Amino acid sequence: MSFQNAPTRQDFPADFRWGVSTSSFQIEGAGDADGKGESIWDRFCKQPGRIRDGGNGLVACDHYHLYPQDLDMAKAMGVNAYRFSIAWPRILPNGHLGRGAVNEAGLAFYDRLVDAMLERGLDPWCTLYHWDLPQALQDQGGWLSRETVAAFVEYTDIVTRRLGDRVKHWITHNEPWCSSMMSYWENVHAPGGTSFADALQASHHILLSHGLAIPVIRKNVPGADIGITLSLHPITAASDSPEDAAALQRHDGLRNRWFLDPLFGRGYPADTLALAGDAAPTVLPGDLEAIATPTDFLGVNYYFPEMVKHDPDPKTGGPMRASLVEKQGVERSGFGWEVSPQGLVDLLARVQRDYNPTVIQLTENGSTFEDVLTPEGRVHDKERLSYLQRHLAALKAAVDAGVPVKGYFAWSLLDNFEWAEGYLRRFGLAYVDYPTQRRILKDSGLWYGQFLNE
Ligand code: NOJ
Repeated sequence: MSFQNAPTRQDFPADFRWGVSTSSFQIEGAGDADGKGESIWDRFCKQPGRIRDGGNGLVACDHYHLYPQDLDMAKAMGVNAYRFSIAWPRILPNGHLGRGAVNEAGLAFYDRLVDAMLERGLDPWCTLYHWDLPQALQDQGGWLSRETVAAFVEYTDIVTRRLGDRVKHWITHNEPWCSSMMSYWENVHAPGGTSFADALQASHHILLSHGLAIPVIRKNVPGADIGITLSLHPITAASDSPEDAAALQRHDGLRNRWFLDPLFGRGYPADTLALAGDAAPTVLPGDLEAIATPTDFLGVNYYFPEMVKHDPDPKTGGPMRASLVEKQGVERSGFGWEVSPQGLVDLLARVQRDYNPTVIQLTENGSTFEDVLTPEGRVHDKERLSYLQRHLAALKAAVDAGVPVKGYFAWSLLDNFEWAEGYLRRFGLAYVDYPTQRRILKDSGLWYGQFLNE
């Protein structure tokens, strides 16, 4: 289906949650304010060649100071939920209590931020880990060390005790694929690394820290609503051949099932473990039970589908012996990502069929294109607008088909620091003019506001 007709808000259930999504390192700035410690992304940005435009998070969107106006804008847009993340090094500049005290000024900032959301009728959705690990923990091995798992649980305890009276929705981790595979193996994200074995071990510790944090959140937050957010991809094979079909299975094993299976109590997929061989992670007794601790929702971030083919060359096909194929003649956004609203329908149907979560929250969806600020101060982002409208139409189709999606969070409220791409990629519904820190709602943001206020 092409999903050409934009839906209206009334096409969705009345209690559907409409939000925007952000993350601490990408928008806050105030990189060393009020006792904040160094994060792995602060360190990474200092390494020459890591960030395409040489950018860093020191100022970003200066949301640390401008949050009242940003939340005003979100409120005016008509969203009823706001997803943000906490910068761990603001709370524990040295990573954990064994190495230093809690930074009260860091907690106080999130107090103010949460109170400002509540004053505006925005329901806070808090992500505990959106990749800005304290550098002090990286110095002890980062996610390769089980001590980081313990430190995450301690950090979770501190944050949920402080904010749990006001914040009910908690997301432990954002996109563990990125904080493990892209960070320890593909060498694209902090801390940087090229080892597949390290990436698998990091992913295991991240998932374990998720599982062990759940009872802590439940203890501290009456009526907590807890989940984890995964980046998931619908995948197709390049041909009908049995080789490509098998490649699809292998690629899906690492990309999707590696995370979904253990969370849903099935342990790591046997086929992926077999292909990993010696790179398989160390898993201690009890770990898999902890990872499978029940949650209240599955967070899904959807951006694009993938197509793969059989590729026996380990240099290009990797340990899964599958490589990505560029589909011809398809629409693409910046990054070369395929634009596919149908992919969202397929993905959600698959997750429901294979894992049957009670609730799914679409915690991110969005697109990047070259934006132009006109002399009249407008951004006519036709392509992003069309992306948003068609993905909402696809979301409606999924809801109508009975998939239990209960919320949609657009990525992102603001243009921001897009990791290794620096400020070169804009995903915002609002344009940020970085030299002046002026926010300008793009046509897509204006339309989302109309849709929500209809
Ligand atoms: C997912 C990540 O969670 C977010 O940080 C990032 O900016 C978007 N994808 C866009 O790449």
